[in-house]
Amino acid sequence: MLPEPATLAPPVRTTHTGYLLGITLVAALGGLLFGFDTAVIAGTIPFITQYFGLSEAMLGWAVSSMLLGCMAGTLVAGSLADRYGRKPVLIGTAVFFFISAVGSAVPTTLTTFVAARMLGGLAVGTASMLSPVYIAEVAPAHLRGRLVSLYQLAIVIGIQASFFSNYALVDTGVDNWRWMFGVEAVPAVAFLFALLFVPETPRFLAKRGRTEEALVVLARTRPADEAQAELAAITSVLQDPTAQRLSDLRAPRLRPILVIGIVLAVLQQVTGINTVMYYAPLIFAQTGASVDSALLQTVAVGGVNLLFTFVAIYLIDRIGRRPLMLAGSALMGVSLAGLSAAFFLDAFQGPLVLLLVLAYIASFAASLGPVVWVIISEIFPTRVRGAAVAVATFVLWTACFVVSLTFPWLLAHLGGAGTFLLFAVLCAVTYVFVWRRLPETRNKSLETLERELVGT
Ligand code: BGC
Repeated sequence: MLPEPATLAPPVRTTHTGYLLGITLVAALGGLLFGFDTAVIAGTIPFITQYFGLSEAMLGWAVSSMLLGCMAGTLVAGSLADRYGRKPVLIGTAVFFFISAVGSAVPTTLTTFVAARMLGGLAVGTASMLSPVYIAEVAPAHLRGRLVSLYQLAIVIGIQASFFSNYALVDTGVDNWRWMFGVEAVPAVAFLFALLFVPETPRFLAKRGRTEEALVVLARTRPADEAQAELAAITSVLQDPTAQRLSDLRAPRLRPILVIGIVLAVLQQVTGINTVMYYAPLIFAQTGASVDSALLQTVAVGGVNLLFTFVAIYLIDRIGRRPLMLAGSALMGVSLAGLSAAFFLDAFQGPLVLLLVLAYIASFAASLGPVVWVIISEIFPTRVRGAAVAVATFVLWTACFVVSLTFPWLLAHLGGAGTFLLFAVLCAVTYVFVWRRLPETRNKSLETLERELVGT
């Protein structure tokens, strides 16, 4: 049994922890931009529809083209990050975020607008895989879950920030939508500037044979003796001939963990989270709520999402990933089944639907939201981490694209009752998959995990 985090963290660590937290927060800004960029479009829909004269199909294209950019971004970013390092690719991402923010604000044609949004998508796709990888690779084992969960917290803050900023800018005249997109340039510049001060990750440096630099980074983020021991473990795993044969994603030993990463990525999306995140007002409107109260309820969704992410941050390194995933998927399933029943029985009196949606969001925020990103960033071996995380993240974005594209159709054809029942069943699938296949990764170094999971 490993000691509890409290006993592993004597006061002498304060300066290390401060620096570690600082560089984690910089990487997490990638999550904030990801959240902002995916959600900002919602508030602009009426204005871009009017300005570009969009039909329904063209609006669908204007909104979802960005997700195609995300998918492309994840594909390119993984191998670039394995070849050139995590930091340079993150810097490139910040530049793309900036160009896309300005580029989405100035167009006079739909084509240039879509091109700018796709560029933003490339940045979102890249940041979504690389920010958690960066954090996982600098974090000591006993803090890794918590620190990677800060990335999820940043996503949620980014989503909320876009709602508030859209709200604040709505009365700025006919160009309001331009400002709504354009303000993202500010966090993009902050991200770019802050990235110049963070180090490359010790694991990438060690992989490139730059062990002395790796040690410097480790020594800034943990006590000297631990830094030495960790570097020895990293280099020993990298030099292991079995690990060297793992430099290719097709290695048969990688298959079981690739399956875990990919299936979890799909499950995080097909259990329906973004139908609520992207379409909450539509769901509430179906219950007969007025537009105002539908919007207010949407704000409540964001607040609960934020609040319950802290529950995950508090628990993930204490009780572990598995208990959070099991409890979370079970509670998500129960809330969705309740929602399905409410739609089936037309039971829309009082705040019932709102409460069920909030229970669902709270359960997601404390489990599948952060934990899936944590698992994806930690289960793969260092040699192929970039490429493997890219594959899992690509699948996650593809699932997100499919779910957001089909949700209005599902709602029209299966009704609320059928649609939410389908998501509830997929929560049950998640529960069973986690219970049978997910290894507990709490408190284990990435090298210990590599030995245990792929047997190097
Ligand atoms: C998911 C996003 C989702 C967000 C909501 C993230 O973990 O990957 O698709 O929009 O959580 O909080």
